[in-house]
Amino acid sequence: MSSTSRGVRIRVREGLCIEAKSDPCGLVIFGASGDLTRRKLFPSLTYLKEHGLLPGSFYALGAARSAMTDAEIRSLAPELDAVYYLRGDYDDAAAYRELKERMRALDKTHQTGGNAIFYLAVPPELYPVILRGLGDAGLLDGAAPGGWARVIIEKPFGRDLASAMELETALGAYLREDQIYRIDHYLGKETVQNILLFRFANSIFEPIWNRSYIDHVQISVLESIGVEKRAGYYDQSGVVRDMCQNHMTQLLALTAMEAPTSFAADHVRDEKSQVFRSINPLAAENVVLGQYAGYRSEAGVSPNSRTPTYAALRVDISNWRWEGVPFYLRTGKKLGKRAAEIAVTFKRVPHSLIPQLRPEDLEPNVLVFRIQPDEGISLSFEAKKPGPKLCLGALTMDFDYDEVFGEDPPEAYQRLLLDCMQGDQTLFIRRDAVKETWRLVEPLLDSKKFEPAFYDPGSPGPAAADALIGRDGRKWRL
Ligand SMILES: NC(=O)c1ccc[n+]([C@@H]2O[C@H](COP(=O)([O-])OP(=O)(O)OC[C@H]3O[C@@H](n4cnc5c(N)ncnc54)[C@H](OP(=O)(O)O)[C@@H]3O)[C@@H](O)[C@H]2O)c1
Repeated sequence: MSSTSRGVRIRVREGLCIEAKSDPCGLVIFGASGDLTRRKLFPSLTYLKEHGLLPGSFYALGAARSAMTDAEIRSLAPELDAVYYLRGDYDDAAAYRELKERMRALDKTHQTGGNAIFYLAVPPELYPVILRGLGDAGLLDGAAPGGWARVIIEKPFGRDLASAMELETALGAYLREDQIYRIDHYLGKETVQNILLFRFANSIFEPIWNRSYIDHVQISVLESIGVEKRAGYYDQSGVVRDMCQNHMTQLLALTAMEAPTSFAADHVRDEKSQVFRSINPLAAENVVLGQYAGYRSEAGVSPNSRTPTYAALRVDISNWRWEGVPFYLRTGKKLGKRAAEIAVTFKRVPHSLIPQLRPEDLEPNVLVFRIQPDEGISLSFEAKKPGPKLCLGALTMDFDYDEVFGEDPPEAYQRLLLDCMQGDQTLFIRRDAVKETWRLVEPLLDSKKFEPAFYDPGSPGPAAADALIGRDGRKWRL
Protein backbone atom coordinates (compact mmCIF):
# COMPACT_ATOMS: atom_id res chain seq x y z
CA MET A 1 0.00 0.00 0.00
CA SER A 2 1.31 3.49 -0.71
CA SER A 3 0.04 7.01 -0.16
CA THR A 4 1.41 10.31 -1.37
CA SER A 5 1.04 13.77 0.06
CA ARG A 6 2.96 16.91 -0.92
CA GLY A 7 5.79 14.80 -2.35
CA VAL A 8 6.08 12.45 0.64
CA ARG A 9 5.54 8.84 -0.39
CA ILE A 10 4.80 6.22 2.24
CA ARG A 11 4.98 2.61 1.19
CA VAL A 12 3.72 0.20 3.81
CA ARG A 13 5.11 -3.22 2.94
CA GLU A 14 3.11 -6.38 3.43
CA GLY A 15 4.40 -8.37 6.35
CA LEU A 16 5.74 -5.32 8.16
CA CYS A 17 2.62 -4.69 10.18
CA ILE A 18 2.87 -6.46 13.47
CA GLU A 19 -0.51 -7.20 14.96
CA ALA A 20 -0.75 -8.86 18.33
CA LYS A 21 -3.94 -10.53 19.51
CA SER A 22 -5.73 -9.48 22.66
CA ASP A 23 -6.89 -12.16 25.05
CA PRO A 24 -10.60 -12.23 25.91
CA CYS A 25 -11.05 -10.12 29.05
CA GLY A 26 -13.27 -7.99 31.21
CA LEU A 27 -12.33 -4.41 32.07
CA VAL A 28 -13.41 -3.21 35.51
CA ILE A 29 -13.15 0.57 35.86
CA PHE A 30 -13.07 1.89 39.43
CA GLY A 31 -14.22 5.54 39.51
CA ALA A 32 -16.30 5.01 36.36
CA SER A 33 -18.46 8.00 37.30
CA GLY A 34 -15.47 10.30 36.76
CA ASP A 35 -13.91 12.52 34.15
CA LEU A 36 -11.23 10.16 32.85
CA THR A 37 -13.76 7.42 32.11
CA ARG A 38 -16.12 9.75 30.27
CA ARG A 39 -13.53 11.73 28.32
CA LYS A 40 -10.88 9.10 27.57
CA LEU A 41 -11.65 5.51 28.48
CA PHE A 42 -15.10 5.01 26.94
CA PRO A 43 -14.23 6.93 23.74
CA SER A 44 -11.06 4.84 23.44
CA LEU A 45 -12.94 1.57 23.91
CA THR A 46 -15.44 2.75 21.30
CA TYR A 47 -12.59 3.46 18.86
CA LEU A 48 -11.09 0.02 19.49
CA LYS A 49 -14.47 -1.61 18.90
CA GLU A 50 -15.06 0.34 15.67
CA HIS A 51 -11.62 -0.67 14.39
CA GLY A 52 -12.14 -4.35 15.24
CA LEU A 53 -9.44 -4.25 17.90
CA LEU A 54 -11.41 -5.21 20.98
CA PRO A 55 -11.22 -8.90 21.83
CA GLY A 56 -14.25 -10.79 20.52
CA SER A 57 -15.11 -11.71 24.10
CA PHE A 58 -15.14 -8.56 26.19
CA TYR A 59 -17.15 -6.64 28.76
CA ALA A 60 -16.67 -3.36 30.66
CA LEU A 61 -17.91 -3.04 34.22
CA GLY A 62 -17.94 0.41 35.84
CA ALA A 63 -17.63 0.52 39.62
CA ALA A 64 -18.00 3.59 41.85
CA ARG A 65 -19.99 5.02 44.77
CA SER A 66 -22.37 7.12 42.66
CA ALA A 67 -25.80 5.73 41.97
CA MET A 68 -26.01 4.76 38.31
CA THR A 69 -27.86 2.09 36.33
CA ASP A 70 -26.51 -0.14 33.57
CA ALA A 71 -28.61 1.90 31.14
CA GLU A 72 -27.11 5.16 32.37
CA ILE A 73 -23.53 4.01 32.01
CA ARG A 74 -24.28 2.51 28.57
CA SER A 75 -25.38 5.95 27.42
CA LEU A 76 -21.70 7.01 27.82
CA ALA A 77 -20.63 4.38 25.29
CA PRO A 78 -23.70 3.38 23.23
CA GLU A 79 -21.61 1.60 20.56
CA LEU A 80 -20.23 -0.91 23.06
CA ASP A 81 -22.33 -4.06 23.47
CA ALA A 82 -21.45 -5.13 26.98
CA VAL A 83 -21.25 -2.32 29.53
CA TYR A 84 -22.42 -2.72 33.12
CA TYR A 85 -22.31 -0.82 36.39
CA LEU A 86 -21.91 -1.82 40.01
CA ARG A 87 -22.36 0.60 42.93
CA GLY A 88 -20.22 0.15 46.00
CA ASP A 89 -17.88 1.75 48.53
CA TYR A 90 -14.17 1.35 47.88
CA ASP A 91 -13.43 0.18 51.45
CA ASP A 92 -16.33 -2.21 51.86
CA ALA A 93 -15.33 -5.90 51.81
CA ALA A 94 -18.93 -6.87 50.95
CA ALA A 95 -18.74 -4.71 47.81
CA TYR A 96 -15.75 -6.75 46.60
CA ARG A 97 -17.57 -10.00 47.27
CA GLU A 98 -20.45 -8.67 45.18
CA LEU A 99 -17.97 -7.58 42.53
CA LYS A 100 -16.51 -11.06 42.42
CA GLU A 101 -19.94 -12.63 41.94
CA ARG A 102 -20.80 -10.15 39.23
CA MET A 103 -17.50 -10.76 37.45
CA ARG A 104 -17.95 -14.53 37.63
CA ALA A 105 -21.39 -14.16 36.03
CA LEU A 106 -20.13 -11.77 33.34
CA ASP A 107 -17.18 -14.05 32.71
CA LYS A 108 -19.59 -16.89 31.92
CA THR A 109 -21.87 -14.74 29.79
CA HIS A 110 -19.05 -13.20 27.75
CA GLN A 111 -16.61 -16.13 27.80
CA THR A 112 -13.71 -13.99 29.02
CA GLY A 113 -11.68 -16.89 30.41
CA GLY A 114 -11.42 -15.42 33.91
CA ASN A 115 -9.18 -12.60 32.61
CA ALA A 116 -9.65 -9.17 34.13
CA ILE A 117 -8.11 -5.71 33.88
CA PHE A 118 -8.76 -3.41 36.82
CA TYR A 119 -8.42 0.26 35.87
CA LEU A 120 -8.06 2.46 38.96
CA ALA A 121 -9.50 5.74 37.60
CA VAL A 122 -9.81 7.21 41.09
CA PRO A 123 -7.74 9.60 43.22
CA PRO A 124 -4.42 7.88 44.05
CA GLU A 125 -5.14 7.76 47.82
CA LEU A 126 -7.61 5.01 46.94
CA TYR A 127 -5.12 2.77 45.14
CA PRO A 128 -4.02 0.85 48.27
CA VAL A 129 -7.63 0.62 49.52
CA ILE A 130 -8.86 -0.89 46.25
CA LEU A 131 -5.87 -3.22 45.97
CA ARG A 132 -6.58 -4.54 49.45
CA GLY A 133 -10.26 -5.06 48.57
CA LEU A 134 -9.38 -6.89 45.35
CA GLY A 135 -6.58 -8.88 46.97
CA ASP A 136 -8.68 -10.01 49.94
CA ALA A 137 -11.48 -11.05 47.59
CA GLY A 138 -8.98 -13.16 45.62
CA LEU A 139 -9.62 -11.17 42.46
CA LEU A 140 -5.96 -10.41 41.76
CA ASP A 141 -5.40 -14.00 40.62
CA GLY A 142 -8.05 -13.55 37.95
CA ALA A 143 -11.83 -13.43 38.01
CA ALA A 144 -12.05 -17.21 37.64
CA PRO A 145 -9.54 -20.09 37.80
CA GLY A 146 -7.07 -20.04 34.90
CA GLY A 147 -7.51 -16.33 34.25
CA TRP A 148 -5.08 -13.46 34.66
CA ALA A 149 -5.48 -10.10 36.43
CA ARG A 150 -3.77 -6.83 35.47
CA VAL A 151 -4.05 -3.45 37.17
CA ILE A 152 -3.73 -0.07 35.46
CA ILE A 153 -2.92 2.97 37.55
CA GLU A 154 -2.58 6.60 36.56
CA LYS A 155 -0.01 9.12 37.67
CA PRO A 156 0.70 10.68 40.11
CA PHE A 157 2.77 7.76 41.43
CA GLY A 158 3.33 9.35 44.83
CA ARG A 159 4.06 12.95 45.79
CA ASP A 160 7.76 12.43 46.42
CA LEU A 161 10.24 9.57 46.61
CA ALA A 162 9.05 8.32 50.02
CA SER A 163 5.34 8.28 49.16
CA ALA A 164 6.09 6.75 45.75
CA MET A 165 7.95 3.93 47.47
CA GLU A 166 5.06 3.51 49.93
CA LEU A 167 2.72 3.12 46.98
CA GLU A 168 5.14 0.64 45.42
CA THR A 169 5.16 -1.37 48.65
CA ALA A 170 1.34 -1.48 48.56
CA LEU A 171 1.39 -2.54 44.91
CA GLY A 172 4.10 -5.11 45.58
CA ALA A 173 2.12 -6.61 48.47
CA TYR A 174 -0.65 -7.67 46.09
CA LEU A 175 0.81 -7.78 42.60
CA ARG A 176 3.79 -9.00 40.62
CA GLU A 177 5.49 -6.37 38.47
CA ASP A 178 4.19 -8.06 35.31
CA GLN A 179 0.62 -7.34 36.50
CA ILE A 180 1.16 -3.59 37.05
CA TYR A 181 0.54 -1.14 34.20
CA ARG A 182 1.59 2.39 35.25
CA ILE A 183 0.30 4.78 32.61
CA ASP A 184 2.18 7.79 31.34
CA HIS A 185 -0.16 8.71 28.51
CA TYR A 186 2.62 10.60 26.71
CA LEU A 187 4.15 7.24 25.88
CA GLY A 188 1.00 6.31 23.97
CA LYS A 189 1.37 9.22 21.55
CA GLU A 190 2.37 8.23 18.00
CA THR A 191 5.35 10.57 17.67
CA VAL A 192 6.69 9.45 21.00
CA GLN A 193 6.51 5.80 19.93
CA ASN A 194 8.05 6.77 16.63
CA ILE A 195 11.21 8.07 18.32
CA LEU A 196 12.30 4.50 18.98
CA LEU A 197 11.49 3.25 15.49
CA PHE A 198 13.05 6.31 13.90
CA ARG A 199 16.22 5.80 15.90
CA PHE A 200 16.50 2.03 15.72
CA ALA A 201 14.78 1.00 12.46
CA ASN A 202 17.01 3.32 10.39
CA SER A 203 20.75 2.97 10.16
CA ILE A 204 21.59 6.55 9.20
CA PHE A 205 20.85 8.26 12.51
CA GLU A 206 22.37 5.97 15.10
CA PRO A 207 26.02 6.55 14.09
CA ILE A 208 25.61 10.31 14.61
CA TRP A 209 23.36 10.10 17.69
CA ASN A 210 26.04 11.01 20.19
CA ARG A 211 28.38 13.64 21.60
CA SER A 212 30.52 13.73 18.46
CA TYR A 213 27.69 15.08 16.28
CA ILE A 214 24.94 16.40 18.53
CA ASP A 215 25.34 19.83 20.07
CA HIS A 216 22.34 19.76 22.40
CA VAL A 217 18.74 18.59 22.76
CA GLN A 218 15.71 20.68 23.71
CA ILE A 219 12.60 18.96 25.05
CA SER A 220 9.69 21.38 25.32
CA VAL A 221 6.11 20.90 26.43
CA LEU A 222 4.56 24.37 26.39
CA GLU A 223 0.94 25.06 27.21
CA SER A 224 -0.97 28.27 26.55
CA ILE A 225 -3.75 27.46 29.02
CA GLY A 226 -3.47 27.93 32.78
CA VAL A 227 -4.68 25.57 35.48
CA GLU A 228 -8.34 25.98 34.44
CA LYS A 229 -10.66 23.76 36.51
CA ARG A 230 -7.78 21.68 37.91
CA ALA A 231 -6.51 24.48 40.19
CA GLY A 232 -7.21 22.61 43.45
CA TYR A 233 -5.30 19.53 42.28
CA TYR A 234 -2.59 21.54 40.55
CA ASP A 235 -1.76 23.74 43.51
CA GLN A 236 -0.97 20.61 45.51
CA SER A 237 1.05 19.22 42.66
CA GLY A 238 2.83 21.82 40.52
CA VAL A 239 4.92 21.41 37.43
CA VAL A 240 7.58 19.19 38.99
CA ARG A 241 5.09 16.48 39.96
CA ASP A 242 2.70 17.06 37.07
CA MET A 243 5.22 17.12 34.21
CA CYS A 244 8.88 16.77 35.15
CA GLN A 245 8.81 13.53 37.13
CA ASN A 246 6.90 11.71 34.41
CA HIS A 247 6.36 13.04 30.86
CA MET A 248 9.56 15.08 30.57
CA THR A 249 11.87 12.40 31.92
CA GLN A 250 10.21 9.76 29.73
CA LEU A 251 10.77 11.87 26.61
CA LEU A 252 14.37 12.36 27.68
CA ALA A 253 14.90 8.62 28.14
CA LEU A 254 13.53 7.73 24.71
CA THR A 255 15.85 10.27 23.10
CA ALA A 256 18.94 9.29 25.05
CA MET A 257 18.65 5.52 25.57
CA GLU A 258 20.89 2.90 24.02
CA ALA A 259 19.49 0.45 21.48
CA PRO A 260 17.57 -2.27 23.34
CA THR A 261 18.24 -5.90 22.41
CA SER A 262 14.65 -6.14 21.19
CA PHE A 263 11.32 -4.38 21.56
CA ALA A 264 10.44 -6.71 24.41
CA ALA A 265 9.06 -4.59 27.24
CA ASP A 266 11.85 -5.23 29.70
CA HIS A 267 14.58 -4.76 27.12
CA VAL A 268 13.25 -1.29 26.32
CA ARG A 269 12.64 -0.44 29.97
CA ASP A 270 16.11 -1.67 31.01
CA GLU A 271 17.69 0.86 28.65
CA LYS A 272 15.46 3.69 29.81
CA SER A 273 16.38 2.98 33.41
CA GLN A 274 20.03 3.01 32.46
CA VAL A 275 19.57 6.61 31.24
CA PHE A 276 17.90 7.65 34.49
CA ARG A 277 20.78 6.20 36.45
CA SER A 278 23.30 8.16 34.33
CA ILE A 279 21.73 11.58 34.92
CA ASN A 280 23.77 13.87 37.17
CA PRO A 281 21.98 15.32 40.21
CA LEU A 282 20.45 18.68 39.26
CA ALA A 283 22.63 21.58 40.41
CA ALA A 284 20.79 24.75 41.51
CA GLU A 285 22.26 26.78 38.63
CA ASN A 286 20.69 24.33 36.17
CA VAL A 287 17.14 24.86 37.43
CA VAL A 288 14.67 27.70 36.88
CA LEU A 289 11.17 27.41 38.29
CA GLY A 290 8.45 29.94 37.54
CA GLN A 291 4.87 30.84 38.36
CA TYR A 292 2.63 32.80 36.01
CA ALA A 293 1.43 36.18 37.26
CA GLY A 294 -2.18 35.85 38.34
CA TYR A 295 -1.86 32.17 39.30
CA ARG A 296 -2.40 32.99 42.98
CA SER A 297 -5.75 34.60 42.17
CA GLU A 298 -7.10 31.50 40.39
CA ALA A 299 -10.07 29.93 42.22
CA GLY A 300 -8.77 27.07 44.39
CA VAL A 301 -5.17 28.36 44.57
CA SER A 302 -3.69 29.54 47.86
CA PRO A 303 -3.02 33.32 47.78
CA ASN A 304 0.57 32.70 48.97
CA SER A 305 1.15 29.68 46.79
CA ARG A 306 4.75 28.94 45.87
CA THR A 307 3.70 26.15 43.53
CA PRO A 308 5.67 26.39 40.28
CA THR A 309 3.79 26.34 36.98
CA TYR A 310 6.97 26.43 34.88
CA ALA A 311 10.31 24.64 34.87
CA ALA A 312 13.44 24.96 32.75
CA LEU A 313 16.21 22.48 33.46
CA ARG A 314 19.62 21.70 32.07
CA VAL A 315 20.10 17.96 32.43
CA ASP A 316 23.50 16.33 31.98
CA ILE A 317 23.92 12.64 31.31
CA SER A 318 27.21 11.09 32.33
CA ASN A 319 27.96 8.29 29.94
CA TRP A 320 30.04 7.65 26.83
CA ARG A 321 27.31 8.71 24.43
CA TRP A 322 26.22 11.96 26.03
CA GLU A 323 29.05 13.39 28.13
CA GLY A 324 29.07 17.17 27.52
CA VAL A 325 25.77 17.27 25.57
CA PRO A 326 23.18 19.27 27.52
CA PHE A 327 19.52 18.27 27.44
CA TYR A 328 17.38 21.35 28.09
CA LEU A 329 13.91 20.52 29.41
CA ARG A 330 11.27 23.22 29.47
CA THR A 331 7.60 23.04 30.35
CA GLY A 332 5.00 25.44 31.68
CA LYS A 333 1.50 26.84 31.65
CA LYS A 334 0.04 30.12 30.34
CA LEU A 335 2.88 30.57 27.87
CA GLY A 336 2.77 32.41 24.56
CA LYS A 337 2.79 29.13 22.60
CA ARG A 338 1.21 25.70 22.75
CA ALA A 339 3.71 23.19 21.45
CA ALA A 340 5.44 19.98 22.47
CA GLU A 341 8.54 18.73 20.72
CA ILE A 342 11.94 17.14 21.00
CA ALA A 343 14.52 19.06 18.97
CA VAL A 344 17.94 17.52 18.37
CA THR A 345 20.42 20.17 17.22
CA PHE A 346 23.51 18.84 15.47
CA LYS A 347 26.93 20.46 15.62
CA ARG A 348 27.81 23.14 13.13
CA VAL A 349 30.11 22.39 10.21
CA PRO A 350 33.75 22.55 11.34
CA HIS A 351 34.89 24.69 8.43
CA SER A 352 33.24 26.97 5.87
CA LEU A 353 34.19 26.60 2.20
CA ILE A 354 33.05 30.11 1.50
CA PRO A 355 35.51 32.74 2.77
CA GLN A 356 32.75 35.34 3.34
CA LEU A 357 30.87 32.97 5.65
CA ARG A 358 32.04 31.72 9.01
CA PRO A 359 30.97 28.23 10.12
CA GLU A 360 28.75 29.88 12.75
CA ASP A 361 26.88 31.76 9.99
CA LEU A 362 25.52 28.43 8.74
CA GLU A 363 22.47 27.10 10.56
CA PRO A 364 22.98 23.76 12.30
CA ASN A 365 20.80 20.82 11.24
CA VAL A 366 17.87 20.29 13.56
CA LEU A 367 15.77 17.15 13.76
CA VAL A 368 12.41 17.76 15.43
CA PHE A 369 9.90 15.24 16.73
CA ARG A 370 6.68 17.26 16.96
CA ILE A 371 4.35 15.84 19.60
CA GLN A 372 1.67 18.54 19.43
CA PRO A 373 0.05 20.19 17.65
CA ASP A 374 0.36 18.51 14.21
CA GLU A 375 2.31 15.40 15.20
CA GLY A 376 5.18 14.84 12.80
CA ILE A 377 8.92 14.91 12.17
CA SER A 378 11.04 17.55 10.46
CA LEU A 379 14.68 17.92 9.50
CA SER A 380 16.24 21.25 8.60
CA PHE A 381 19.36 21.64 6.49
CA GLU A 382 21.24 24.27 4.52
CA ALA A 383 20.83 24.40 0.74
CA LYS A 384 21.66 26.70 -2.14
CA LYS A 385 18.82 28.93 -3.26
CA PRO A 386 18.27 28.66 -7.05
CA GLY A 387 19.86 31.49 -9.09
CA PRO A 388 23.21 32.80 -10.32
CA LYS A 389 24.28 34.09 -6.92
CA LEU A 390 25.53 31.76 -4.20
CA CYS A 391 22.83 32.24 -1.56
CA LEU A 392 22.28 29.74 1.23
CA GLY A 393 19.02 29.18 3.01
CA ALA A 394 17.70 26.76 5.63
CA LEU A 395 15.22 24.22 4.24
CA THR A 396 12.94 22.02 6.28
CA MET A 397 11.80 18.55 5.25
CA ASP A 398 8.55 18.11 7.05
CA PHE A 399 6.40 15.04 7.65
CA ASP A 400 2.98 15.60 9.18
CA TYR A 401 0.90 12.58 10.22
CA ASP A 402 -2.37 14.19 9.31
CA GLU A 403 -1.20 15.15 5.79
CA VAL A 404 0.44 11.86 4.98
CA PHE A 405 -2.02 9.43 6.54
CA GLY A 406 -5.12 11.58 6.13
CA GLU A 407 -6.20 11.28 9.74
CA ASP A 408 -5.01 12.31 13.15
CA PRO A 409 -3.01 9.63 14.95
CA PRO A 410 -4.97 7.51 17.42
CA GLU A 411 -5.41 8.75 20.97
CA ALA A 412 -2.81 7.61 23.47
CA TYR A 413 -5.39 5.79 25.63
CA GLN A 414 -6.55 3.66 22.69
CA ARG A 415 -3.06 2.29 22.26
CA LEU A 416 -2.41 1.88 25.97
CA LEU A 417 -5.66 0.04 26.68
CA LEU A 418 -4.98 -2.27 23.76
CA ASP A 419 -1.42 -2.94 24.94
CA CYS A 420 -2.68 -3.87 28.38
CA MET A 421 -5.21 -6.29 26.85
CA GLN A 422 -2.31 -7.81 24.93
CA GLY A 423 -0.05 -7.98 27.99
CA ASP A 424 2.55 -5.66 26.46
CA GLN A 425 4.17 -3.44 29.12
CA THR A 426 6.64 -1.65 26.82
CA LEU A 427 4.85 1.70 27.02
CA PHE A 428 4.19 1.50 30.75
CA ILE A 429 6.47 2.71 33.54
CA ARG A 430 8.40 0.15 35.53
CA ARG A 431 8.97 0.41 39.28
CA ASP A 432 12.68 1.26 38.99
CA ALA A 433 11.90 4.18 36.65
CA VAL A 434 9.43 5.61 39.18
CA LYS A 435 12.15 5.52 41.81
CA GLU A 436 14.93 6.94 39.64
CA THR A 437 12.85 9.81 38.28
CA TRP A 438 11.69 10.81 41.77
CA ARG A 439 15.31 10.71 42.92
CA LEU A 440 16.13 13.14 40.12
CA VAL A 441 13.35 15.70 40.60
CA GLU A 442 12.69 15.49 44.35
CA PRO A 443 15.19 18.25 45.23
CA LEU A 444 13.10 20.66 43.11
CA LEU A 445 10.19 20.24 45.52
CA ASP A 446 12.07 22.30 48.12
CA SER A 447 10.30 25.64 47.65
CA LYS A 448 12.76 27.42 49.96
CA LYS A 449 15.66 26.46 47.77
CA PHE A 450 13.79 26.96 44.50
CA GLU A 451 11.66 30.09 44.75
CA PRO A 452 9.59 30.35 41.55
CA ALA A 453 10.21 33.47 39.45
CA PHE A 454 7.07 35.23 38.17
CA TYR A 455 6.40 35.45 34.43
CA ASP A 456 3.71 37.18 32.44
CA PRO A 457 0.89 35.08 30.97
CA GLY A 458 1.43 34.80 27.21
CA SER A 459 5.20 35.30 27.56
CA PRO A 460 7.89 32.68 26.81
CA GLY A 461 8.48 32.20 30.59
CA PRO A 462 10.77 33.80 33.17
CA ALA A 463 13.80 35.75 31.96
CA ALA A 464 15.99 33.53 34.14
CA ALA A 465 15.22 30.62 31.80
CA ASP A 466 16.66 32.54 28.86
CA ALA A 467 19.72 33.21 31.00
CA LEU A 468 20.01 29.48 31.84
CA ILE A 469 20.38 28.45 28.21
CA GLY A 470 22.02 31.77 27.17
CA ARG A 471 24.87 31.08 29.59
CA ASP A 472 25.83 28.17 27.31
CA GLY A 473 25.67 30.39 24.20
CA ARG A 474 22.34 28.87 23.09
CA LYS A 475 18.71 29.96 22.72
CA TRP A 476 15.33 28.33 23.16
CA ARG A 477 13.97 27.21 19.81
CA LEU A 478 10.30 27.90 20.54
N1 LIG B 1 -9.01 13.19 33.84
C1 LIG B 1 -7.87 13.12 33.20
O1 LIG B 1 -7.75 13.54 32.05
C2 LIG B 1 -6.67 12.50 33.86
C3 LIG B 1 -5.43 12.62 33.24
C4 LIG B 1 -4.31 12.02 33.83
C5 LIG B 1 -4.44 11.31 35.00
N2 LIG B 1 -5.66 11.20 35.60
C6 LIG B 1 -5.76 10.40 36.82
O2 LIG B 1 -6.75 9.40 36.64
C7 LIG B 1 -7.47 9.17 37.83
C8 LIG B 1 -8.94 9.43 37.60
O3 LIG B 1 -9.10 10.72 37.07
P1 LIG B 1 -10.51 11.48 36.99
O4 LIG B 1 -10.22 12.79 36.38
O5 LIG B 1 -11.54 10.61 36.37
O6 LIG B 1 -10.85 11.68 38.52
P2 LIG B 1 -12.18 12.21 39.20
O7 LIG B 1 -13.23 12.50 38.17
O8 LIG B 1 -11.81 13.26 40.17
O9 LIG B 1 -12.56 10.94 40.08
C9 LIG B 1 -12.99 9.71 39.54
C10 LIG B 1 -14.00 9.10 40.49
O10 LIG B 1 -13.35 8.73 41.69
C11 LIG B 1 -14.32 8.67 42.72
N3 LIG B 1 -13.82 9.26 43.98
C12 LIG B 1 -13.57 8.62 45.13
N4 LIG B 1 -13.08 9.42 46.08
C13 LIG B 1 -12.99 10.61 45.53
C14 LIG B 1 -12.55 11.87 46.00
N5 LIG B 1 -12.06 12.03 47.23
N6 LIG B 1 -12.59 12.92 45.14
C15 LIG B 1 -13.05 12.76 43.88
N7 LIG B 1 -13.49 11.56 43.40
C16 LIG B 1 -13.46 10.52 44.20
C17 LIG B 1 -15.52 9.43 42.21
O11 LIG B 1 -16.52 8.45 41.96
P3 LIG B 1 -17.64 8.09 43.04
O12 LIG B 1 -17.86 9.28 43.92
O13 LIG B 1 -18.83 7.76 42.19
O14 LIG B 1 -17.10 6.93 43.76
C18 LIG B 1 -15.09 10.02 40.90
O15 LIG B 1 -16.14 10.07 39.95
C19 LIG B 1 -6.83 10.08 38.88
O16 LIG B 1 -5.84 9.35 39.55
C20 LIG B 1 -6.18 11.18 38.05
O17 LIG B 1 -5.07 11.73 38.72
C21 LIG B 1 -6.77 11.79 35.04
